[in-house]
Amino acid sequence: MFQAKQFTIPEINGISAKTIEEHLKLYAGYVKHANLIQGKLNEYKSDVEKNAYVIGELNRRFAFEFDGMRNHEYYFEQLEGGQKDSMDSELTKKMIADFGSVDAWLTEFKTLCMTRGIGWAVLWYDKVTDKLINAWVDEQHLGQLNGLAFIYGVDMWEHSYLMDYTPADKKKYVESYLMATNQEVSAKRFDEAKK
Ligand SMILES: [Fe+2]
Repeated sequence: MFQAKQFTIPEINGISAKTIEEHLKLYAGYVKHANLIQGKLNEYKSDVEKNAYVIGELNRRFAFEFDGMRNHEYYFEQLEGGQKDSMDSELTKKMIADFGSVDAWLTEFKTLCMTRGIGWAVLWYDKVTDKLINAWVDEQHLGQLNGLAFIYGVDMWEHSYLMDYTPADKKKYVESYLMATNQEVSAKRFDEAKK
């Protein structure tokens, strides 16, 4: 069984407490459905021949719910502790090495956030090539990069900002989220991924 995590999210400039409250409910939904799918698969396996299509579709569906759960855990963790810089971190050094500067990374990442459609803007770390990569994930699961570590991500589904901004103003939500994040969280993820 997957358990929903509890998060302590401080007040955020530009993202309302109501948005966070409703968003946390959606997160709980992903946890619930990841568990439900596993339970259903368990039931249906008593007759795999008869239930072949159902099992196939549930297996396909699982990554959506599981990745939806995990993406949101990363997202809310990044807000815990409030805004903090981590200029001396290994991650900052790596951003400078791979992108030229933190600002250059940020410019590329903000462009990634503006990708049309629903999904996630993610900074990944590829241990195989020792590279940071900015890449988009459609929905919750389509485009997750095999074996790469999730270092930092922004939810670009409309439910993340629609109570606070119009779709045309989603850039303001991105700015608010980026300003509110605890960079020590991502720095720690990077340190772990490097091991
Ligand atoms: Fe979300």
